[in-house]
Amino acid sequence: MAASPDKTFYLETFGCQMNVHDSEKVIGTLISEGYRQVPTVEEAGLILYNTCSIRDKAEQKVFHRLADYKKLQAQGKKFGVLGCVAQQEGEKIFERAPHVSMVCGSASYRNLPEMLVQIEEGKRTTGLDDRQTDKCFETEFTSRTNPNRGYITIIEGCDKFCAYCVVPFTRGKERSRTSESVLDEARQMADLGYTEIQLLGQNVNSYRDPSENKSFAELLVSLGNVPGIRRVRFTTSHPRDFGRDIVEAIDAVPTLCDHVHLPVQSGSTRVLEAMQRLYTRDQYLERIAWMKAARREISITTDIIVGFPGETEAEFGQTLSLLDGVEFDGVFGFKYSPRPNTPALRLDDAISDEEKARRLSVVNERQREIQKRNNAKFLGRTLEAMVEGKNNSRNQWVGRTSQNKVLNFTAPAGVEPALGSYVSVITRQCFPNSLVGEMVV
Ligand code: 5AD
Ligand code: SF4
Repeated sequence: MAASPDKTFYLETFGCQMNVHDSEKVIGTLISEGYRQVPTVEEAGLILYNTCSIRDKAEQKVFHRLADYKKLQAQGKKFGVLGCVAQQEGEKIFERAPHVSMVCGSASYRNLPEMLVQIEEGKRTTGLDDRQTDKCFETEFTSRTNPNRGYITIIEGCDKFCAYCVVPFTRGKERSRTSESVLDEARQMADLGYTEIQLLGQNVNSYRDPSENKSFAELLVSLGNVPGIRRVRFTTSHPRDFGRDIVEAIDAVPTLCDHVHLPVQSGSTRVLEAMQRLYTRDQYLERIAWMKAARREISITTDIIVGFPGETEAEFGQTLSLLDGVEFDGVFGFKYSPRPNTPALRLDDAISDEEKARRLSVVNERQREIQKRNNAKFLGRTLEAMVEGKNNSRNQWVGRTSQNKVLNFTAPAGVEPALGSYVSVITRQCFPNSLVGEMVV
């Protein structure tokens, strides 16, 4: 459908890669309904926020935005809240922000075309009742922003119910797409020139093809063999469902990137049990041992929550000793944030915010040293980098390695590597979060 001059929208996305990719599908859907995307709130008739509620701070962002732009309602602009806060708060959003016309959780995006008609008619509309859905949001209208690397959702929702986590309440129960549909999407992307795909799911390891019973590792192998695809990444893994077959697949198929993000959350078995993570410290370390024994050098990153209710100093110390033992290539550390509906809300012994902040800075400091040491081993080595951009102020190109490390590099005079191309770079300097080198021609 051609864009109508008066149907414009602005969309801001908060949260994880799933949300970023959902927004690409929402944008594609709106464009197919005759809307035109604009870069500012001021130019837009419809203002949409795709929201995150993983921690309280993320949730508050959307309410700040809604308050900031409330006055624009007088100009006839309409507001919609999508994503995890929409699903979590539902119609309560209308009470808190009466200028909102649409509240839609991620499991209801396929109803967007009808919902858009309703708000155009001046009505309020909600898409909230599909939390128990067994359908995935598949659309031919995905509007991907990066022409070289693209996301593919393979599984939606989560059935794990970790004690701190809001996701099972916001994204509903687990449902996998068929491998045929995932492979078709990958082939179409390869035909369009994409060389890297990033598979998405709250827990990709529990992927199970609903028609052929294919496992996640088998899906990885098939995707790694799609002609034209040079890199396959996936996130997020769950230690409980992370099988050795995934490491074997990475060893066997060179297009599977040598990077695994495996959130541990805590190094203490007692805390892991209270978090309902369904694995012990030793079981986690066993999975790390599989990866360290692989023929390929797999980089490993993780997530840590500090200050879960009742976490003692000694238990926090076990998280630090786990960091020392594993030597992760990256750690995303978070202060525990109590979330609505979650079982951990009922736990006593809250840790003060000051103490959580202290523990987090200890984690970050310890990890910085580890990453500095880890990255030093790349000095003098030649790595393949996908060119992602240019930093003009430093006259350096920005690249990324298969291990997901940022590798900035200089190119010989007169050489302008194309964005999305793959180049060889010899590493000359290392920092905790990046490497610097020279392109080899
Ligand atoms: N508080 C703090 N961090 C959280 N995460 C998930 N829920 C919470 C919470 N309530 C973190 C976990 C997860 C990452 C995406 O966010 O570490 O792996
Ligand atoms: Fe945020 Fe989790 Fe929702 Fe992603 S799935 S947007 S991280 S709450």
